[in-house]
Amino acid sequence: MSNRVRIAPSILSADFGRLHDEVKAIEAAGADYVHVDVMDGRFVPNITIGPLVVEAVKRATSLPLDVHLMIVEPERYIDDFVKAGASIITVHQETCAHLHRTLQQIRAAGAKPSVVINPSTSLSAIEDVLGEVTQVLLMSVNPGFGGQAFIPATIDRVKRLRAMLEAKGLTSVDIEVDGGINATTAKQVVAAGATVLVAGNAVFKQPDYRAAIAALR
Ligand code: DX5
Ligand code: ZN
Repeated sequence: MSNRVRIAPSILSADFGRLHDEVKAIEAAGADYVHVDVMDGRFVPNITIGPLVVEAVKRATSLPLDVHLMIVEPERYIDDFVKAGASIITVHQETCAHLHRTLQQIRAAGAKPSVVINPSTSLSAIEDVLGEVTQVLLMSVNPGFGGQAFIPATIDRVKRLRAMLEAKGLTSVDIEVDGGINATTAKQVVAAGATVLVAGNAVFKQPDYRAAIAALR
């Protein structure tokens, strides 16, 4: 595990009319990943983007694409997102009837498997698949929209997940946190054991992306 905290700006808060330039700008500003929020209007109320746009983002950057699938039956689309250029694919435990199989499907397709749970889902729901993933994402808001307030109970969840991973000897698994991250909450979750921070508004709604990313790190 690298000690350096990685920053994954979420393009959900970008100007979609200038998506190519926005992605280039965060790369130049020091981002580590591009976080892509895929929403289907079924698992979450909002509808966003699909593989076609992921492919366009891929053409704009050499950064790894961290694709967060907030869709029902994600297994139907994993291959399409890998072909479009996803490096990491995150699926919600709440959407997977056969989570272990879906994580293996991601790996077989050539991407890094990652699992995510909502703020209301117990850590025990993913405990038995921790050996199958390179990253666990803990939602720190209810998924669906950018710009929501951070849920403070996430800090203790990060600590408990880090302890769970250590107890299993899985020290290289990343803990990513998504939702309401700003300079204050970033510091809190990193102290608790997070290694990857997603940030939408805290990057794209700021005048200076480089300063915004540096402030989070
Ligand atoms: C929420 C998304 C997040 C969101 C984060 O459903 O998964 O990635 O865009 O946005 P901020 O950082 O503005 O809360
Ligand atoms: Zn996300």
